[in-house]
Amino acid sequence: MTTITVDEVHDLDVLVIGAGGAGIRAAIAAKSEGASTGLVCKSLFGKAHTVMAEGGIAASMGNVYPEDNWRVHFRDTMRGGKMLNNWRMAQLHAQEAPDRVRELEEWGALFDRTPDGRILQRDFGGHRYARLAHVGDRTGLELIRTLQNKATSLDVRVFMECTILRLLTDANRVVGALGYWRESGKFVVFRAKATVLATGGVGKAYKITSNSWEYTGDGHSLALWAGADLIDMEFLQFHPTGMVWPPSVRGLLVTEGVRGDGGVLKNSDGKRFMFDYVPEMFRAETADTEEEADRWYTDKVGARRTPDLLPRDEVARAINSEIKAGRGSPHGGVFLDIASRRDPEYIKRRLPSMYHQFKQLAGVDITTEPMEVGPTCHYMMGGVRVDPDTGASSLPGLFAAGEVAGGMHGSNRLGGNSLSDLVVFGRRAGLGAAAAAAAMSDMPSIDPAQVDSLAREALSVFDRSGGTNPYEVHRKLQECMQSLVGIVRTGDELEEAQGRLEEIQREASVASVEGHLQYNPGWHLAMDLRSMTTVARCIAMAALVRKESRGGHTRDDYPQPDPELGKVNMVVRYNDGELTVTPEPLPVMPDDLAELFKS
Ligand code: FUM
Repeated sequence: MTTITVDEVHDLDVLVIGAGGAGIRAAIAAKSEGASTGLVCKSLFGKAHTVMAEGGIAASMGNVYPEDNWRVHFRDTMRGGKMLNNWRMAQLHAQEAPDRVRELEEWGALFDRTPDGRILQRDFGGHRYARLAHVGDRTGLELIRTLQNKATSLDVRVFMECTILRLLTDANRVVGALGYWRESGKFVVFRAKATVLATGGVGKAYKITSNSWEYTGDGHSLALWAGADLIDMEFLQFHPTGMVWPPSVRGLLVTEGVRGDGGVLKNSDGKRFMFDYVPEMFRAETADTEEEADRWYTDKVGARRTPDLLPRDEVARAINSEIKAGRGSPHGGVFLDIASRRDPEYIKRRLPSMYHQFKQLAGVDITTEPMEVGPTCHYMMGGVRVDPDTGASSLPGLFAAGEVAGGMHGSNRLGGNSLSDLVVFGRRAGLGAAAAAAAMSDMPSIDPAQVDSLAREALSVFDRSGGTNPYEVHRKLQECMQSLVGIVRTGDELEEAQGRLEEIQREASVASVEGHLQYNPGWHLAMDLRSMTTVARCIAMAALVRKESRGGHTRDDYPQPDPELGKVNMVVRYNDGELTVTPEPLPVMPDDLAELFKS
């Protein structure tokens, strides 16, 4: 048997895998420190799930409410995450987000303005004050455009349409990665002193998702296989409002900005049902009547918030309950109405993408008719366990930032906190990786036998005939995750999911693919299935162990939060081919921050 040698090898100080907001910001930071930096995109540069954070970037700039400050933002974030967040990450995030927004503006981002010319901020769920800096309903797109320009101006090396298959290790240190070009199928090795994962989430393991094809849990599985810890994998966010019709666009995001700008949720009886779903924790600050809620929309200060803008986990569960109770819309969602509340000119100005999205894809004019919406798998709270200040994982040489990193959002992320997370922790991970690279004098060495065995394994799907069909395996995976590991879970269903997922993973491991290496979508999917099935198993296993309901994890058989489980992260590890889940204590919040929760 001849050894597979890979001729194309790129030597880098810092390798960044994933080119959404976190990845590009990490690359900018590393390159600005003088590190030779490469940025690998699975897709085209600029195409990232970051653009699906439409409504804005959360930062307590105080432009609309001068009384806003980082402590209030910190408290909102922790309460939204049901106190399971890593307090230090939530603190750094709240403190640094305003500077990162100003920096984006300096780099060319064109935010909407207040009448006196400052950056305008809009309301979003779970935020005490209007604090989302935004660009209409295209904020993520503007963020990516701005970062892309900045990275290009710094001469960051960009490797497009390249999928990373495995991290390469030497003596328990990450020393780079093996990937392949999607177009040619040829392998490529990146040898790096430090590697940053910024690969986003795993929405494609679900049938209904706002994520596009790239989001297959690559970074989560790469980290796990290499030996890093994952935390909080049971917490998955279902954004309350995705499109439900037509079927071809089911799951496509409908920004929370619609509710932030006055839209309300209604059931088939025309009732604003969110008033029936206010949990005790948020009761004191949530309006009891429609009149009171509407006063909040108009006068804001002093009035209590509308329940349509409770944190996402609460709203998604409420919508789910209304649909299950038979009060849904004709296509299996509920109604989101802004038409009866704002004039057409306002709607088109504030929400231009939503206007066009519904008009073109569903034939619905949102300035005159309600939208039909329902929950869609949007975001993974769980991920690589990192040091808050540097983004370092538990494995030397490996860093992580953005959605692939765990801890920042606890059990549920507030809308708008993703874009700020990306730039705050993308920058920190890039700096952390550059510092780690600077501390190494020589390039690490790559083991050719490791490369050979991984490449051989990736090609095995072509040698096998009569194996499983990756598309069929993917369908089964999505079906299983959607029906058994979705918004509401039970122990029995999770047990069933575990068994099914093990079988699905086995089937994925014996897939066969026809044709050749040149752009072969069947092969690409077969590779993605390895990640997706691994991450899906992590989600189901951690969900089974967490016998309580908290944030993005609802157990019908354990409907209440358990105070003891509120003190632990579930840590997932991979050892000798086995996955394990271990509860471990959360870092303890210092007294001065804990004080903030006493009032
Ligand atoms: O609804 C939205 O615009 C999404 C924002 C986010 O996920 O942060």
